[in-house]
Amino acid sequence: MVVSLLSGPMRSKIPRMSTSESSAAAERAATKDRGAWTPTSWQARPAAQQVPYEDPGALKAAVEMLGRLPPLVTSFEIEKLKQHIAEAQEGRRFVLQGGDCAESLDDCRPDPIAAKLKILLQMSMVLIHGGGRPVVRIGRFAGQYAKPRSKPLETRDGLSLPSYFGDLVNRPPFEPEARKADPTLLVEAYQKSALTLNFIRSLVDSGFADLHHPEFWDLSFMESATLSASLREDYARTVREVEQALSFMESLGERTVSKQLQRVEFFTSHEGLNLWYESAQTRQVPRREGWYDLTTHMPWIGERTRQLDGAHIEFFRGIRNPVGVKVGPTATPETVLELIGALNPDDEPGKLVIITRMGASRVRDGLPPILEAVERSGRRVLWMCDPMHGNTVSTESGRKTRDFENILAEVEGCMAVHQAVGTYFGGVHFELTGDDVTECIGGADGLTEQDLERNYATLCDPRLNYRQALEMSFRIARRMP
Ligand code: PEP
Ligand code: CO
Repeated sequence: MVVSLLSGPMRSKIPRMSTSESSAAAERAATKDRGAWTPTSWQARPAAQQVPYEDPGALKAAVEMLGRLPPLVTSFEIEKLKQHIAEAQEGRRFVLQGGDCAESLDDCRPDPIAAKLKILLQMSMVLIHGGGRPVVRIGRFAGQYAKPRSKPLETRDGLSLPSYFGDLVNRPPFEPEARKADPTLLVEAYQKSALTLNFIRSLVDSGFADLHHPEFWDLSFMESATLSASLREDYARTVREVEQALSFMESLGERTVSKQLQRVEFFTSHEGLNLWYESAQTRQVPRREGWYDLTTHMPWIGERTRQLDGAHIEFFRGIRNPVGVKVGPTATPETVLELIGALNPDDEPGKLVIITRMGASRVRDGLPPILEAVERSGRRVLWMCDPMHGNTVSTESGRKTRDFENILAEVEGCMAVHQAVGTYFGGVHFELTGDDVTECIGGADGLTEQDLERNYATLCDPRLNYRQALEMSFRIARRMP
């Protein structure tokens, strides 16, 4: 079924008690006096994961330039996404977020952008079919240029240089000049984000929506000899049903219905790691209250920068955008409640998205206490699962990879935990590309470690390729409640 009646609000199995111990941590964080917020108040706090800029004059010039340039997105779009997320929090929508681990300035080219849009659109059709709910599509694109790293320095042959922190900050070559933080990259990344977004908006506005139809999809993974007969049949049935639902909708021929199908909505997101970039485009807009970060619709805070008293929480607590926050296996229920209190003190609908990334082996034990504590507190969040970042391994030859089955296992574990606790599993977050890369192993194509050398193109973490990503959506859809 492609368009369904919306299901009612989710019913939790856990009683909500506003005065419970659980809510105390959130209340404490919400009511703590953090001082006045301004777009630059973060500068008085320690910021993790930064490469210092050596030339303050050049940094100031870049930030002022960004401050003068037009915004990349508008407050209207941001409010619309927030409304969608509020509905997702009530179980009435599902969110698909995906794209590169790190965008590259050199890859601001039409083909990879169109391919990314295409895979996200196609996955969303499969997920709409699986869950019977509208899917909100959020790209990791048009600004996903800053990367946190596990080590601040990289050492080769006795020489230590700052690690590569993404094209927004410095450049990949292992050379002293390339690894310096370069403020002109802030402006170049803004420009490339604008070019990317311009192309995305044009594609979305012109016949791109035809890609709804499975006859435009590359379904060759369904022919793979490694696929079991039951999965093959399952996939084929899904394709048939999506086709039938689309033909049915189109045969109705009503203008509103076909218009709805033609209009595909995409939103943008990136990790809000570089606060010079984010704050330079943070503004007040006419006839609305508060401040909007106009670099993207939904920035997120990474696992490594969510320190409660750090610069990132300080900055993101003050903006009107919906905000994501990554939560990994070391997070306690108390930490998560404090994050909720700090980032969404007024419990505003559609504001906060918690993206859990526990790892397949830890999700079934690590996630329940967190969900239970938040549920007991009665605080509103959208729960999403990032099954990529807790499942990265290194091969003997030093390549980072992820196994399709582990990625799927984390999503399935997450779904099972949400079902047991009675919370709504509201979305998935993938690192993926629409291209034919060989970075993750597994899937019906049966990619192995030996295949990784063939086309290992990522600047940072391994991504699902087109066929793996599409197959992943089929596998998730068959389990969606
Ligand atoms: C990422 O999303 O690319 C990332 C670095 O994730 P995390 O903060 O969850 O490690
Ligand atoms: Co990544």
